[in-house]
Amino acid sequence: MKAHLITYGCQMNEYDTHLVQSQLVSFGAAIVDTVDEADFVLINTCAVRGKPVEKVRSVLGTLRKTKAQRPLVVGMMGCLAQLDEGQQMARKFGVDVLLGPGSLLDIGKALEGNERFWGLAFKDELHDHIPPPPTGKLQAHLTIMRGCDHHCTYCIVPTTRGPQVSRHPDDIRRELDTLLSAGVQEVTLLGQNVNAYGVDGGARLGGYPSFAGLLRLVGQSGIRRIKFTTSHPMNFTEDVAAAMAETPAVCEFVHLPVQSGSNRVLRRMAREYTREKYLTHIAEIRRHLPDAVLATDIIVGFPGETEEDFQETLSLYDEVGYDSAYMFAYSARPGTPSYKHFEDLPREVKTERLSRLIARQKEWSARKNAEKVGTVQEVLLRGDAHDPAFLEGHTRGNHPTVVPKAIGAAGAGIYAVRIEHATPHMMYGRILDAQGRELPEQPRLDPASAALSAPLAMA
Ligand code: SAH
Ligand code: SF4
Ligand code: F3S
Repeated sequence: MKAHLITYGCQMNEYDTHLVQSQLVSFGAAIVDTVDEADFVLINTCAVRGKPVEKVRSVLGTLRKTKAQRPLVVGMMGCLAQLDEGQQMARKFGVDVLLGPGSLLDIGKALEGNERFWGLAFKDELHDHIPPPPTGKLQAHLTIMRGCDHHCTYCIVPTTRGPQVSRHPDDIRRELDTLLSAGVQEVTLLGQNVNAYGVDGGARLGGYPSFAGLLRLVGQSGIRRIKFTTSHPMNFTEDVAAAMAETPAVCEFVHLPVQSGSNRVLRRMAREYTREKYLTHIAEIRRHLPDAVLATDIIVGFPGETEEDFQETLSLYDEVGYDSAYMFAYSARPGTPSYKHFEDLPREVKTERLSRLIARQKEWSARKNAEKVGTVQEVLLRGDAHDPAFLEGHTRGNHPTVVPKAIGAAGAGIYAVRIEHATPHMMYGRILDAQGRELPEQPRLDPASAALSAPLAMA
């Protein structure tokens, strides 16, 4: 079998694609790069906003046409597959295999017979399954929990991924060991709400550390860099900031989604914290990690958001001074409480506010990145940039960074880099040796070069 996988959505979906891909390979399948070469196409779907759902609809439409011309098995996995909306789409477009986010290990069973196979159960076996490490890569994801126990009124994730289930620390450790032995140097711990690790359904699990404890444990493994995402402010404790500060491998990077700066909107979103409480977490982080790089998620145009509410989001952005942000216009998702109970704002209002917020974010990112010019950053270089005279990678604070190749540097790896130039989305520097001297033969940066326009790639 020749399988081609397409992934939409977040890093948890990327991890799941890797997991299913490794299952397919263990059954003897070859992974191919294009639909044309494939006899099995599997789409890992996202349902968090309308856009990714529409993308899946259009890919399924194209695949239906291909299917009419030649034998092809079409599969759909992930968040959209778990929803009625996705299952209706699957019926309409003649999807053969459908696997929800809790049934991924049914992939073998699904491909055995000639019958249509739909798997929608949430199975625990996923938690002890250790996918083989990615080959030749320095970075990897490691899922430490699945699902979410929160009920943010706009969000479909608790429906698609079910309640929170933390993974046993022994399974996490075993997976970490396979990553380490494969040469991985940076691991990102993944969950919808990593701060609630070890507390499922509100109950502390015996034998599981807290998230802060887990950070300390992972920090002892010998891995060079640890990142994690996502943190929910409601479950953020000062001990997490303390664990970050005292564990050298944990990067000084915190992605703490705020969603809105207005208490009225936060209440309607059921976020379970106030603007003031959020700011105390930021102060705690800064107290323990004065150089912390801060990122967030913001939704603009939530139902009922007034211009005044939006101004509070802008003022919170200024008060925190984030390094970067993911910003979204509210998208009403069928099945969520806000879809049922609140009226959507006009699209123009949402897009206009979004563009004002993006402008504010750009100013801040430009300012924050410019402050880094002249500093030395630890950069994980993953490989060639668009222009093969350059390497690309990212700092401990997740800033995408480009450097010219140098004699004496072995290619991909972790290097000290002096930052010479910065834009809101990219930093440019030169590799240093252990004595802080520039490694020789590094071409001068040419602002017109292809490397300078490399696309933003968040780690
Ligand atoms: N568990 C993570 C978020 C997962 S979804 C957390 O709580 O931080 C990633 C981001 O998508 C969210 O932080 C939110 O900003 C955005 N998002 C979720 N539902 C959305 C919706 N209906 N419309 C627009 N953005 C949404
Ligand atoms: Fe969605 Fe809220 Fe859970 Fe994040 S915490 S996945 S936004 S319900
Ligand atoms: Fe999308 Fe599911 Fe992730 S809805 S954002 S793929 S958890």
